[in-house]
Amino acid sequence: MQPTPAVDRSISFSVARQLEVYQRGSCVPVSCEALEARAREALTPQAFAYLSGGAGAEDTMRANLEAFRRWRIEPRVLRDLSGRDWRTPLLGTVLPAPVLLAPIGMQGIFHADAELATARAAASVRVPMILSSAASRPLEQVADAMADAPRWFQFYWSADAEVAASFLGRAERAGYSAIVVTVDCPILSWRERDLGLAYSPVVFGEGMANYLSDPVFRSRLARPPEEDIEPAVRRFVETFGNAALTWNDLPFLRRHTRLPIVLKGILRADDAARALDAGVDGLIVSNHGGRQVDGAVASLDALPRVAERVAGRVPVLLDSGIRRGADAFKALALGASAVLLGRPYAWGLAAAGEQGVREVLLNFLADLDLTFGLSGCASVAEVTRDFLRRE
Ligand code: FNR
Repeated sequence: MQPTPAVDRSISFSVARQLEVYQRGSCVPVSCEALEARAREALTPQAFAYLSGGAGAEDTMRANLEAFRRWRIEPRVLRDLSGRDWRTPLLGTVLPAPVLLAPIGMQGIFHADAELATARAAASVRVPMILSSAASRPLEQVADAMADAPRWFQFYWSADAEVAASFLGRAERAGYSAIVVTVDCPILSWRERDLGLAYSPVVFGEGMANYLSDPVFRSRLARPPEEDIEPAVRRFVETFGNAALTWNDLPFLRRHTRLPIVLKGILRADDAARALDAGVDGLIVSNHGGRQVDGAVASLDALPRVAERVAGRVPVLLDSGIRRGADAFKALALGASAVLLGRPYAWGLAAAGEQGVREVLLNFLADLDLTFGLSGCASVAEVTRDFLRRE
């Protein structure tokens, strides 16, 4: 049995997935906590710290999870759930369910197949992958691995404007259908676990595939990086982020891409309003999984104010702390159009490569289908604030 989340037969999909797991097991632990433990066994201490750690004391990382516990679902019963359908139109793509894969860079430190494994797994269920600028494989190779499956590109705005423009052009030509501009990471934060181990993949030259394959980036180097990698790493570290960025720079994006522009890392209603004024096409409420500002508000707690200010004018997505179907339900009930699954799929990648990512996704989608349905909804449009009670 190869369950695929056939959108209009979702009832048979999740029941089939349950049967498959009951009969043959899942190649990755079903619970997130056990999955993380499996990833820890599979990874070096450094790679595990990079994946599972956050900024500072990791208060915000914990707060992201706790915020979901403060909301409870009040399920409605005796509603016709036989035709459950979670299809979600989003910026020109129809998602099988309100889920995308969050951009996670440096996947080469988690598994030898890196982003190619994630891409194939995402394509197999047609959940869009958001490929990081800081990937371990070039964006064109990842696109090839996905054929016509939906994909977005996450854009780290290089301090070298011509490299930045080159990335935007390449993403569009390779069939990525939206640009996710991460705005909460112009500089890297203070990450105690990584510092404690004296480990940063960036400094070790990981996550450079898009740069090393970029003609403009290469033109900045006196010798090809294949002959002398040191200056390339230095140039990458120096220009990776852009601390000078302001709202006034956003028109640059419009000049260099026709794709929808989504800002990732919005936590305030006033910033959401500025983004709307700037004409962006979507927002992602995110604190980068607690990896940037320790002490920052939990993503879920920021969502209602942002959603209220946006008032449906553009889609608002959410990440940071999505672990199970119930988390997705609560995020949608509080105003999100879809959620981004982050660390769990990377734990799956570490544990079992492509099949690991695929099974994490299948388990998540099955849980989502059952939890949304048992809460009393048959489509995402039916998920409203009315289903939640704050504890
Ligand atoms: C990230 N995240 C991230 N975001 C981004 O815009 N570009 C990137 O390259 C990365 N890289 C990255 C690496 C690792 C190891 C992690 C864990 C996260 C942030 C990511 O997109 C998302 O916001 C968080 O993962 C959400 O938090 P949870 O749900 O994974 O805890």
